[in-house]
Amino acid sequence: MSLFLEEVSHGLSKKNKKISSKWFYDYRGSKLFEQITKLKEYYPTRTEIKILKDNKIEIANKIGKRAVLIEPGAGDIKKISIFLNNLDTPKKYIPLDISEDYIKKVSKTFKKKFPKIAITPIGYDFSGNNKLPFKILPSENVTIFFPGSTIGNFNKKDAIKFLQMLKTKFKAKKIIIGADLVKNIPTLISAYDDKKGVTKKFNKNILKRINSELGGNIDLNSYKHLAIYNKSKNRIEMKLKAKKNNKISINGSNYSIKKNEEIHTENSHKYTIQSFKNLAIKAGWKIKKTWVDDKKLFSVHCLVL
Ligand code: AVJ
Repeated sequence: MSLFLEEVSHGLSKKNKKISSKWFYDYRGSKLFEQITKLKEYYPTRTEIKILKDNKIEIANKIGKRAVLIEPGAGDIKKISIFLNNLDTPKKYIPLDISEDYIKKVSKTFKKKFPKIAITPIGYDFSGNNKLPFKILPSENVTIFFPGSTIGNFNKKDAIKFLQMLKTKFKAKKIIIGADLVKNIPTLISAYDDKKGVTKKFNKNILKRINSELGGNIDLNSYKHLAIYNKSKNRIEMKLKAKKNNKISINGSNYSIKKNEEIHTENSHKYTIQSFKNLAIKAGWKIKKTWVDDKKLFSVHCLVL
């Protein structure tokens, strides 16, 4: 049984139904996320890019010489190229992504643009207990690049575990990490419920994958895309809400979903500079430097041991 099938059957059997956001990202989902990053309402990507551009020399200096750059959940790998030419003799770049098709494809374009840097794209799910798919020497200047506020998908406990794991398993010495900031609720909600409906398509891509990869029979039109802000937990929650009672059959098993029942698909946690600092410290890291845009929409941090 595939891990996807296992997680979907488990998630749909619960009282509070949920499927992990990592399953958004097959090739199509990665393409849809790329489209999201270009939406007027979706401020995080363009804001983070501006922060990286405005501070690229300082960021490159913080990373230092002969860096082994590892990017978990690398996606379209556009952000690393902002400061790549400012780095002092980087050793290699290892983009990791759950969608192997997608990461291999985007790496081809990258190779043409940066022929001098050694790049090894790998299909890898960093959220599990999977073995490292490459070797690291203790002496290497391992720098984790983790932009986009992907850290926001984890709850606090898992975010701490992840940051600790970067130290123990990846032998990271530094982390350059992006974290989205708490702000007014309408701005947050429209970023996750855009007018063109791209985020809706992205959210429903999980259902589409269940149909095509697991032989499901879900009617995508029976579900409504929801993005709500949970104030007490400082996070956007995405859900798929059933418009009517429906029975789903997946690989021989049946699940009944009642009208108005919700399937939780994603949390996107928002931080303050202080709450992010507390998180990093709990995981055994120090914040060496924090960069923000002038509207304080987004933050990028350099973490060291
Ligand atoms: C890729 C996890 C950073 O939480 O903003 C975008 C994913 N979900 N729109 C985010 C996402 C809906 C995104 N991250």
